[in-house]
Amino acid sequence: VPPAGAASAAAPAPRGACPNPLAVPAASKAPFFLGSATAAYQVEGAAAEGGRGPSIWDTFSHLPGKTHEGDTGDRADDFYHRWANDIALMRSLGLRNFRLSLSWTRLFPNGTVGDLNPEGVAFYDGLFDALRAACIEPWVTLYHWDLPQALQDEYGGWVDERIVEDFAAYAQAAFDLFGDRVKYWFTLNEPETFCPLGYETGTFAPGRCSDRTRCLEGNSSTEPHLCAYHAVLAHAAAVSAFRQGFCRSCGQACSLEACSLECAGESVPGGQIGMTNAIGWAAPYTGSAEDVAAAERQQSFTGAWFLDPLYRGDWPAERKAVYGDLLPSFTPEQRRFILDNPQDFIALQHYTGNYVYQNATNPPLLLSSTTKSSDGYQLPQADSPWLFVFPKALRSLLGWLHRRYGAPIIITENGVSAPGEASKPVLEVLCDQFRLSYFQQYISNATAAKRDDGVDLRGYFAWSLLDNFEWADGYSKRFGITYVDFDSLARYYKASAMWLSSWFGMGAVTS
Ligand code: NOJ
Repeated sequence: VPPAGAASAAAPAPRGACPNPLAVPAASKAPFFLGSATAAYQVEGAAAEGGRGPSIWDTFSHLPGKTHEGDTGDRADDFYHRWANDIALMRSLGLRNFRLSLSWTRLFPNGTVGDLNPEGVAFYDGLFDALRAACIEPWVTLYHWDLPQALQDEYGGWVDERIVEDFAAYAQAAFDLFGDRVKYWFTLNEPETFCPLGYETGTFAPGRCSDRTRCLEGNSSTEPHLCAYHAVLAHAAAVSAFRQGFCRSCGQACSLEACSLECAGESVPGGQIGMTNAIGWAAPYTGSAEDVAAAERQQSFTGAWFLDPLYRGDWPAERKAVYGDLLPSFTPEQRRFILDNPQDFIALQHYTGNYVYQNATNPPLLLSSTTKSSDGYQLPQADSPWLFVFPKALRSLLGWLHRRYGAPIIITENGVSAPGEASKPVLEVLCDQFRLSYFQQYISNATAAKRDDGVDLRGYFAWSLLDNFEWADGYSKRFGITYVDFDSLARYYKASAMWLSSWFGMGAVTS
């Protein structure tokens, strides 16, 4: 099997030769973006190279017992050295949109803006130039969980209000450095994951554990809520910086060279920004009014956790009812600031769902959940214990988001760890029928929501371009559409990549 993308780095396309993904043909209403996603700590490796400072995931993954067999992201996919080959791989798959994240400590090793690391800047400059030359649009996440260790040490990271200013300053610096080549930005990746897992169960970095049923550390149980509160404020501060510094149309005067760079007189947006949110789907177990209400309680509690603050200025009622005074309240000024700095889209990361039924004896939401439907169908389980295949859930969820917020939606992650991939021989892993069928079913539900339900769906990104470091699960779970041999680091296409490539290439930028 020839390694994927092995031929050579993509030949640079001359500037101006690329189709402009924002130039929408008159007949279609909005562009539709198709692509695949990664994140810095999961793929880059080179943890101690190029002047990079330590992040909380470097520290955490090196602590005994925190990750599967002590796996770390020290080397990961070595994307830091192999990105030219990986761009060739993307080209060969017809990929036009690539989501990646910046490593904060590659740019600012101590977290605070001021000590900019030139080698980090050079790395991302080279990468963004090459992506643009290859006609691949970069979609950039500012924060995908790798907080500078220095900020954790100094004030506890996300539990302290100082994170808001530090994150906004870092975001501003990133817009200034790369805004001429990056139009699409994500502020924070899945605060509904990094807050509870990082500050409640302690299973993710920084490993703070305030959930007394799971651990005895007994840190303040306000920590996950403080984290969530500062995440909302940091997001809004970054959006505000973005609006101020990044022009909205080419005709507009703007301090950034960016705005006039590629527009050639067309009126196109200067850029878009949003937070990514992990949202599953709670389907009612039966059609009874009780089960329907229970499922809605669950859905609002989890799925509106961050979107309600961003679109309505406050936590969802279900969370307030459960947590009471533990939840920090937004002041009227904060509320106004959040609502005055709206994001451009909902960035949805969706993998799984379950069935929910009323259970009056089960506080706090008085419900229980199951992965078996009332007519006995067991949702198939992926390799990750939390992931059950429930394709119709995506369509229902898109409709729910559309009705509740009325905003454009981009699916920024959807994918699956196929059972047994960590241990099967490589040739079997490459025939990833389980993943291929997952993508087919989920994508057809997403397109049905767009086509038939009036959902303003703007794009879809498969997670992930490459097998990579799956956080606490280390390298034991593979989500890639491309197989990575973690010894040789060679890449091999899986069948799902081949199938997706026919779709990626299919007028990937218009609806
Ligand atoms: C969400 C995260 O953003 C990503 O980093 C992770 O690998 C996938 N889900 C799969 O768990």
